[in-house]
Amino acid sequence: MGRNKLWRFEINASRRNVIEEGKEIFSTIKGQWRPYFENTNDLVLELGCGRGEYTTGMAAEYPHRNFIGVDIKGARMWKGSTVAVENNLSNVAFLRIRMFQLLDFFEAGEVNEIWMTFPDPRMKDQDEKHRLTNVEHFKRYRQILKPGSIFRLKTDNYPLYEYTLEVLKNPELTISELVHTDDLYQNPGLLAEHHGIQTTYERKFLKEGSKINYLRFRLW
Ligand SMILES: C[S@@+](CC[C@H](N)C(=O)[O-])C[C@H]1O[C@@H](n2cnc3c(N)ncnc32)[C@H](O)[C@@H]1O
Repeated sequence: MGRNKLWRFEINASRRNVIEEGKEIFSTIKGQWRPYFENTNDLVLELGCGRGEYTTGMAAEYPHRNFIGVDIKGARMWKGSTVAVENNLSNVAFLRIRMFQLLDFFEAGEVNEIWMTFPDPRMKDQDEKHRLTNVEHFKRYRQILKPGSIFRLKTDNYPLYEYTLEVLKNPELTISELVHTDDLYQNPGLLAEHHGIQTTYERKFLKEGSKINYLRFRLW
């Protein structure tokens, strides 16, 4: 492992806003997010947050909501954690887990909104079980969300966008108010919803000429 990565891991270990294995709070945080933030405000998750541009960007814009970036990669998370510390964003936390563990870290109905930003598409058939927008993952997201809360997805990957729209037709999921576009930057109505925030991967994909797909709906 590179020295830079190790150094970032050491800093994460000392940071209150990084919740990861090895810290006492890792086993006690479920159902305790509001006491952790010392308020009773909404919780918004950014799943697969990487460096957490939505987590920190939205936290600065909405000081009366709490934002939690979830990812397994600690070195990326260090960046978002650092931005939060440098900007005194006390409404930000990062949770280092794999997505299938979500139910161990959030009570049913504890979460008020989910953003998923540029998940790895994993479009090979044998990888569907790892795809973060498969039915099983959506059933998990539904459990931790307050019924009828908003779920948003931004992706450069058109097959993943189409796949996700198909998954949402599954009778085991109840959704409403679905809106979507395969070209966010040409859709002024929906563009307003992205808050002008671009993630690291989004900037890379835009440079390569990709269109950005976006969808938003309520999940019951
Ligand atoms: C393509 S990156 C996007 C990162 C960031 N959202 C962005 O747009 O720059 C996908 C991220 O999802 C995370 N990820 C993928 N599968 C995951 C899983 N099962 N559990 C936790 N994180 C996962 C990866 O670690 C990675 O940081």
